[in-house]
Amino acid sequence: MTAAKALSDAIRTSLGPKGQDKLIQTSKGETIVTNDGATIMKNIKALHPAGQMLADLAAAQDIEAGDGTTSVVVLAGAFLGAAENLLEKGIHPTIIAEAFTKASEKAVEYLTEMSTPVELKDRTSLLRAATTSLNSKIVSQYSSTLAPIAVSAVTRIATSTSSNVDLRDVRIVKKIGGTIEDTELIEGVVLNQNVVVSAGGPTRIEKAKIGIIQFQLSPPKPDMDNTVVVNNYAQMDRILKEERQYLLNLVKKIKKANCNVLLIQKSILRDAVTDISLHFLAKLKILVVKDVERDEIEFLTKSFGCKPIPDIEQFTEDKLGYAELVEETSKAGAKIVKITGVKNKGRTVSILAMGSNNLVLEENERSLHDALCVVRCLVKKRALIAGGGAPEIHVSRLLSQYAHTLKGMKAYCFQAYADALEVIPTTLAENAGLNPIAIVTELRNRHALGERNAGINVRKGLVSNILEEDVVQPLLVSTSALELSTEAVCLLLRIDDYVQAR
Ligand SMILES: Nc1ncnc2c1ncn2[C@@H]1O[C@H](COP(=O)(O)OP(=O)(O)OP(=O)(O)O)[C@@H](O)[C@H]1O
Ligand SMILES: [Mg+2]
Repeated sequence: MTAAKALSDAIRTSLGPKGQDKLIQTSKGETIVTNDGATIMKNIKALHPAGQMLADLAAAQDIEAGDGTTSVVVLAGAFLGAAENLLEKGIHPTIIAEAFTKASEKAVEYLTEMSTPVELKDRTSLLRAATTSLNSKIVSQYSSTLAPIAVSAVTRIATSTSSNVDLRDVRIVKKIGGTIEDTELIEGVVLNQNVVVSAGGPTRIEKAKIGIIQFQLSPPKPDMDNTVVVNNYAQMDRILKEERQYLLNLVKKIKKANCNVLLIQKSILRDAVTDISLHFLAKLKILVVKDVERDEIEFLTKSFGCKPIPDIEQFTEDKLGYAELVEETSKAGAKIVKITGVKNKGRTVSILAMGSNNLVLEENERSLHDALCVVRCLVKKRALIAGGGAPEIHVSRLLSQYAHTLKGMKAYCFQAYADALEVIPTTLAENAGLNPIAIVTELRNRHALGERNAGINVRKGLVSNILEEDVVQPLLVSTSALELSTEAVCLLLRIDDYVQAR
């Protein structure tokens, strides 16, 4: 418990819009600057396995909700503290675990009660939620650029009846150059790779017929190692001629299928393309992009509505995808290949993320991921609640009222759980440089007077109606944070010894 609590204390300072960031040095020597709880926890090397459980907890929240990964760890730390006190009082761990589980069920009920339903058509509400999540990031000053991108990306691929969105259909392509403000949503596809220009091929094709090939445009290699001894020029000439002829045949077949944009998958066995085949392709005015990764193929084929072609014999026109324009442009110093006007729109979208250096760019991507997840949460469960500590105080108050109706040990446990929830507003106030005791007391007072949306206004440094400040978050983020952290704590509570296996 001590190990887990220590980790949670370390991450506490990065909660909320005024939270600090962490500078992480990985074992490979890379540096990461981040505010994202999941990223911090993933990179922390926990010596004790109990600490590792907290890292897994943050990862679970990242999968379920995407946002709230700092909150979930902070909450777990507070619940552990509460459990420790109860253990000192002599209450048995299983009783504590049971009571905590019940309390979290109640808490979720109260949260659901206070939430307001939201429709996917209601773009302003979605924007508010995305902005709130971006505001606690390093890139917060760009939230007016990034929030609309996140909302548009998710609403493009979600329908009004869909109950989930696969975020693999939203691809973020990172390019160094410009500033975060240059980040944009592309109706179509942006490629990670550049066009091959060494052979002088085209860099712009209108009415593109796109083929994705998984075979190589290079001379075949025998399966076994063997040696061919060439001892006169005529033989050498013949080999070279054979090679040219072989490649020319391949390229001609590609041209015959009316393909004019060729994406070539990376190959580990031999060269995917050679200079000669590139030369032929350039002559026939075929735009070439090489080094397409194996795991990109699925996204690309889905976007273009085409099929990957594993063999030259199967290179037929019906396997090609169609796009209005394939073009390599340059933006803020970075070369970007855009494919727009794809035939069956709406199945995937791409986001071009830009940033002046790698540190900023990586954080830009992580923040975009959080914002996308927030919008996805609203697709999964269409309800919003206030932020800024309001829901935690509300639930804490109701739970402690409920505790008074209980008897015996259970009442103690419920009360302790309710008090532990105050860690979120306390930490938000602490991190904003406010007096946590004064603020949380006032917050409780305002809630007792019936203002259930009173929260900590971090910018002005006082307690106010947080909905008027547009600080809202998806219900799913809060409920899953409560459920997951309680689950992790109960798991830890049931452990009474730590043995190392040989
Ligand atoms: N403008 C704001 N005023 C007050 N509280 C805010 C504001 N914006 C966000 N919050 C609160 O900050 C908390 C979220 O902080 P933060 O985004 O740093 O952590 P997280 O969402 O738990 O984790 P992560 O974003 O790293 O996955 C929430 O409790 C939210 O209500
Ligand atoms: Mg957040």
